[in-house]
Amino acid sequence: MVLLEINFTINGKVFNVNSKSVPVDTSLNTFIRNHAHLSGTKFMCLEGGCGACVVNLSGLHPVTGDVFSYAVNSVTHFRSVQLHKQ
Ligand code: FES
Repeated sequence: MVLLEINFTINGKVFNVNSKSVPVDTSLNTFIRNHAHLSGTKFMCLEGGCGACVVNLSGLHPVTGDVFSYAVNSVTHFRSVQLHKQ
């Protein structure tokens, strides 16, 4: 079994999450609300259509070191994230 792991911060707090600590089908919205205990993160349609759950994702590109920022729909599931140089 492959152990999937991701490290990130939410509002400056570090989270180290792996497939043993959080089910792999957990949406970002569920993680923010239930695991990070930030229940102010909203959801409405749970289908990606209304925009209520959008959160800002920002970081450094692993190769170029450039700062990136994306609006992310938090009710969908992350299977993999790939960054492409533009
Ligand atoms: S809950 Fe509607 S787009 Fe996210």
